[in-house]
Order: sequence, then C-alpha cells, then structure tokens
Amino acid sequence: MDRLRLADSTTVREGEVQTAQANGASLILSRVRGKVCAVENKCPHFGLPLARGKVAGGTIRCPWHGSRFDLCSGENLDWVNSVAGLPLPLWSRSLVAMGKKPAPLRRFEVVEKNGAVFLLARD
Ligand code: FES
Repeated sequence: MDRLRLADSTTVREGEVQTAQANGASLILSRVRGKVCAVENKCPHFGLPLARGKVAGGTIRCPWHGSRFDLCSGENLDWVNSVAGLPLPLWSRSLVAMGKKPAPLRRFEVVEKNGAVFLLARD
C-alpha cells in the first residue's frame, strides 16, 4: 500500500479545514475529536468547492446552497436550504436543487504518522 504525504499534522486543527491535492482531486482535511479526516472538496450538488464553508461540530456547510456534510463520514446531513447564506423557503428548495438528490461526499482514507498526514492509496 502506497502513501502520499498531504500535510504536517500540526496544520490540521480542530474546527478548521485545509485543502490538499492528491491524484488530481482537491481534498478537505480536518481534525474531528482528535482524528484526521479527509473528504473531497467538491459539493455533490453542483460540484462547487466546499472549503470556504462554515465548520461546526465535525460538519461543513456548503457556502453556495447550505448543504451540510459530516467531515469524517461524508454523510449528507442537510440538503440545499439557502443561497449564499440566505435561507430558502421550503417550497423553493427543490427548484434550487434542480433535480439533484442528496448525496454524500467522497471520503478518503488517511493516516497520521511521524508528524504528517498521509493519504492511503490502495493498489
Ligand atoms: S453547490 Fe453545494 S449545496 Fe449547491
């Protein structure tokens, strides 16, 4: 199993996210309850970057339309409920979703060792 170095451990902090590049993908690294997690920096709604979203309680909220995701499992917790931070009335949410159904973020396996975070790449 190969490893790709993504970041220094000390730069991945609780309540924050940072981005890293790996194999052509943009990743979000975060530390949740001491554990480093990695998900793709790409919202499954329109494929826009998530990294500038609000981070709270191990989740990130998409800055574009408010979908919220678990930073470790990638699970979708809320789907399209705002535009640029302004809440949408319930009736309009499916219009803004434009037929896209709730979907999780792609997650990546990472390991922390010797002061660095590595992506585990399977053969
Ligand atoms: S692009 Fe993320 S919710 Fe629309």
